[in-house]
Amino acid sequence: MSGSLVTGGQGFIGGHLVRALVERGEDVTVLDLPGAPGRALEIHGLVGEVRLIEGDVADPTVVHRALRESASDGSGPDSVFHLAAQTLVGPAAEDPATTFRSNVEGTWVLLEGCRASDVEAVVVASSDKAYGPSESLPYRESYELRPAAPYEASKSAADVISRSYWPAFGLPAGVTRLANVYGGGDLNGSRLVPEVAMAFLEGRAPQIRSDGSPERDYLHVSDAVAAYLAVEGAVREGAGRGEAFNAGTGEAWPVRTIVDLIADEAAREGVGLTEAEYLGEGVPEGEIDRQLVDATRLTELTGWSPKVTLGAGLTEAVEWYRSHA
Ligand SMILES: NC(=O)c1ccc[n+]([C@@H]2O[C@H](COP(=O)([O-])OP(=O)(O)OC[C@H]3O[C@@H](n4cnc5c(N)ncnc54)[C@H](O)[C@@H]3O)[C@@H](O)[C@H]2O)c1
Repeated sequence: MSGSLVTGGQGFIGGHLVRALVERGEDVTVLDLPGAPGRALEIHGLVGEVRLIEGDVADPTVVHRALRESASDGSGPDSVFHLAAQTLVGPAAEDPATTFRSNVEGTWVLLEGCRASDVEAVVVASSDKAYGPSESLPYRESYELRPAAPYEASKSAADVISRSYWPAFGLPAGVTRLANVYGGGDLNGSRLVPEVAMAFLEGRAPQIRSDGSPERDYLHVSDAVAAYLAVEGAVREGAGRGEAFNAGTGEAWPVRTIVDLIADEAAREGVGLTEAEYLGEGVPEGEIDRQLVDATRLTELTGWSPKVTLGAGLTEAVEWYRSHA
């Protein structure tokens, strides 16, 4: 049985990825903080199905233990998916050092651990945020990373460091730069889709920090998981090492459209209140006004393409929040 280590496996995307790996018949180990919010393993009914190592990814002792114990025969994991990160933009701006420790130091500590073991593929989560603000859109992988805020800088640094390990040390590592990921199971209430869906379903008006104008490329979590697995497959086969891959739909939607679509879904669920409160003018400080990615490179290399339309994805998400109220 092949083994995988997923850091951040108690998080939103990590939980879905762990479930896909278990369904693929893998022996999965999760490394995440003790008492991590979200508890994806519980949400997905995976407690007891996978090995859980609780600790900080920036602690070399924890990482060595996770790598050593990742397969029952002690051989270590075949693949490592590195998703552990402090993922919220606001807390990163308030306390950059803590975010840099998890997102940047955590990445090099993990890569150093992988370098000392026999890993066949390492897939590291960067983000479209790593590009920073840009006049030229959609983002292409050839664009310079120009972060302008601490979270963007942390993903950008992790991205550059990870890609360097292939030419420098022959570590087969590839990087994902995903657009905004949404879908059932995200309990991060400061993100747009969970906040709006949960507010409407609870009968309160969602509080929107902008005027509704910022535009994002929204990728359903099932397509995000497929992108991770596509990059892993490419890296294992020898392609895509030391490279980064965008994954998104290539379309950007204003916040206001997302709110209205969720309101329509909530109304179908019998919810009365469907008006949001827009608190800001323009784009909140430190955020980017418009983002979308070109995923041609990943599609051409692996055949990956997004399968879930925005409408179908939001229907799934609202139904998930309703049934997990
Ligand atoms: N959600 C998105 O829209 C999106 C888009 C692009 C990229 N990403 C990236 O994908 C990855 C997963 O995102 P997510 O949405 O699942 O985030 P999430 O916040 O739901 O999950 C992150 C997980 O990492 C864990 N973690 C944080 N610091 C840690 C540390 N020091 N040691 C061990 N574990 C730690 C958290 O406890 C959490 O379980 C992140 O690296 C994120 O930057 C997310």
